[in-house]
Amino acid sequence: MAEYIIKGGKRVCGEIDISGSKNAALPIIAASILNAGKTTLYNVPNIHDTQMMFEILKKLGGNVTKKNNKIIIDTSKVNKYEIPEDLMRQMRSSVIIVGSLIGRHKKALFSYPGGCDIGTRPIDLHLRAFEKMGINIGKNYGNITCSCDKILGEKIDLDFPSVGATENAILTACLAEGKTTITNAAREPEIIDLQNFLNKMGAKIRGAGSNQIEIIGVKKLNDVSYNIMPDRIEAGTFLCLSAMTGGNIKINNTNSETITPVIDKLEEAGCKFNIKKGEIEILAPKKLKAVNIKTMPYPGFPTDLQSVFATTMTIAKGTSIIVENIFENRYKYTQELIRMGAKINVEGKTAIIKGVRKLYGANVKATDLRGGASLVMAGIVAKGTTKIENIEYILRGYEKFDQKLQKIGVDIVVK
Ligand code: EPZ
Repeated sequence: MAEYIIKGGKRVCGEIDISGSKNAALPIIAASILNAGKTTLYNVPNIHDTQMMFEILKKLGGNVTKKNNKIIIDTSKVNKYEIPEDLMRQMRSSVIIVGSLIGRHKKALFSYPGGCDIGTRPIDLHLRAFEKMGINIGKNYGNITCSCDKILGEKIDLDFPSVGATENAILTACLAEGKTTITNAAREPEIIDLQNFLNKMGAKIRGAGSNQIEIIGVKKLNDVSYNIMPDRIEAGTFLCLSAMTGGNIKINNTNSETITPVIDKLEEAGCKFNIKKGEIEILAPKKLKAVNIKTMPYPGFPTDLQSVFATTMTIAKGTSIIVENIFENRYKYTQELIRMGAKINVEGKTAIIKGVRKLYGANVKATDLRGGASLVMAGIVAKGTTKIENIEYILRGYEKFDQKLQKIGVDIVVK
């Protein structure tokens, strides 16, 4: 397993170009199955998770070619409807392909995705949405089969604004007979990107970004080309890193409106911002003030930046209260931060962080994608050298992470 070696004590400064959004690219790649033709995508991040999705498309009979930053997908020969179990287990978000397979073949077969590093992550809301639309669900020995004669446009009310369940319902409804209305839908910007992509394909969807989305089923979808939105979680990660080091960076190819809660909290902690169209510059104080956060569905504070922001607070002045309301097991990284001198006390959904004067380099292990990115941040500010194991977690979601960090002055190497 690869490792990062980081020599700490650096203040970051310079410019960063943000990559395409992982969480927009994954459902859009899955949606390419629906047009049984050609999809050309730009600004797809070259990370483990997008590579996995391409692998699954190829296993289903699709063809994927890459020319520089252009990805050409041909799904005309996708004749299979079973998602390979080993790939499903490696990346649970591949469940997003099920909606497209049902839309295309009126059936899908996959193994229960199971939990992962941040929680059990059930798919009951996905399955209930499918059943509402007339899809028969069979379960045996850990496999789930979905089948129907036709997909019925229906009213679907989600118990929780699940991102994946909202996306899967949209993908299934595009080629349904009649109108589907999703209420209590997730409002994440990545769902707006999916709507824009599908409408460019010829779908009839409106309301993404609000809690009510309407899809009028159509007969066929066409070839399409599309530019993936920037990654708001990567942008938030670099802003928090700059804040933590008392640094001054400018991030390009970003949209500040998608991370307003993070910018507001960093301002409350003492940072100054210069925001222009597509750019965010941050100027951090020598010492941050401790502030509290509660993660919520969009447009609240994003759960994906909980560990990143909490890490920033480990060397702030005062005590921060962090409440994680979305996932039940998203504090594993705190054990590793404590090895570096952080003072954190986790009680259920709440982490109480008492700011310390400094962190110290140590040997730590990444436990999940965003927790791993947080350990990199801690290593950059810590006194001494930090070795981070299991960096494969981090490579799932951050494109060219070490190269981008080196560009803003970080002493980091991959071993
Ligand atoms: C998406 O995951 C993102 N992944 C996650 O990002 C993100 O943390 C999450 O949305 C919340 O914003 C992708 O887009 C690929 P959910 P998803 O369904 O769709 C419960 C990252 O780091 N739930 O909104 O799986 C679930 O257990 C990743 O980039 C059910 O109970 O998230 C969780 O507690 C991590 N039943 C909550 O809802 C269901 O059927 C939110 O899950 C589905 C979800």
